[in-house]
Amino acid sequence: MKKVLVLVGSNRRESINLKFAQALEKLAEGRLEFEYFDLSTLPMYNDDDAADYPAAAQHLKDRIGANDGLLIVTPEHNRSIPAILKNALDWGSRPWGMNSWTGRPTAVVGASPGAMGAIAAQIHLRSILVSLGATLMTSPEVYLQLKPDLIDGNRDITNEDTRAFLAGFVDRFSAWVGADAERAAA
Ligand code: FNR
Repeated sequence: MKKVLVLVGSNRRESINLKFAQALEKLAEGRLEFEYFDLSTLPMYNDDDAADYPAAAQHLKDRIGANDGLLIVTPEHNRSIPAILKNALDWGSRPWGMNSWTGRPTAVVGASPGAMGAIAAQIHLRSILVSLGATLMTSPEVYLQLKPDLIDGNRDITNEDTRAFLAGFVDRFSAWVGADAERAAA
């Protein structure tokens, strides 16, 4: 089974984006294995540390390399990505010449309580990921307005249209990271 590193751009205990990631994980059951990286383990990026990478930052780089793909689930903070996520992107991009994001099959989604579904954050994030050379899946775009009852306690999506749309996203992402080719060859 193909493995996906999941970065949730929130350190909030009750993060709606974490719930969203877990709902996608459930939709991908049997096809993709999700591994969550806790972004709050990373120190604030400091270029003085680039010659002797902090263990947590090296761990991030190792996990990016050990997985087949990358799923970033981002909230929106003041019309951009949260600082905790930008910090991780910066750590992963260094030391100079050793950018871990390059060529990684990557998809971006995001959720907000508001109707715009973290759209501004995702536009910024895609722009950053292009500059980092990630192999970015460009569609479908997923701007999720996450109302309190949309995802239940079992991480199931309660609205059938939304569930079908997100299942379609998972299908595309699964193909993007090579899971379909792997199954066809098995
Ligand atoms: C927000 N929020 C927010 N929402 C939005 O749709 N657009 C925005 O620009 C912002 N800006 C913003 C700034 C800051 C500092 C905070 C703390 C929050 C609200 C945000 O979408 C909401 O808190 C979500 O619950 C954040 O996602 P998590 O942390 O629950 O995954």
